[in-house]
Amino acid sequence: MTGFLGGLYLWVKALHVIFVIFWMAGLFLFPRYLIHHQEALDRPDEAAAWVAREAKLRSIILTPSLIIVWLSGLAIALSGGWFAGQGWLHAKLLLVVLLTGFHGWAVAYSKKLARGETRFPTRTLRMLNEVPGLAVVLIVILVVVKPF
Ligand code: HEM
Repeated sequence: MTGFLGGLYLWVKALHVIFVIFWMAGLFLFPRYLIHHQEALDRPDEAAAWVAREAKLRSIILTPSLIIVWLSGLAIALSGGWFAGQGWLHAKLLLVVLLTGFHGWAVAYSKKLARGETRFPTRTLRMLNEVPGLAVVLIVILVVVKPF
């Protein structure tokens, strides 16, 4: 079951897993940066350093990884014929769409912080920090065990 990717299927799957790891590393780090950034808002020099760190993490890790995970994931899903009647893939896609939404929310929140605005207490940010970890547990179970 390798479809149009042929012998490249396993290579694209390896690429997928490598960039999943990079994306998740970024998603574990970025919300932690937001907490430090928010706590430093009354110290302009420190807050400016967090703006720079967030921009770097986004441009070097988060954005490229998000794009490569989506493109490689869709390529192996289409090539492997996984869309046909594979319930686990649909459940996984729902979780990945939610995780992508979380990524977008975190980026929007960092822009808000860069303008000196806040919306949530840091305690809420700490709870939101757990979202990527929870998503990974569910996604990996779905993709490896394929329970339905
Ligand atoms: C962006 C949309 C995504 C699509 C369409 C997608 C699709 C797929 C498909 C079709 C496979 C191959 C399954 C197999 O050959 O058995 C796969 C493998 C995998 N995916 Fe994704 N994926 C996506 C995102 C993610 C994310 C966000 C994660 C983790 C957070 C993830 C983790 C994995 C892992 C660990 C494997 C390897 C499983 C194995 O070899 O047994 N994927 N993905």
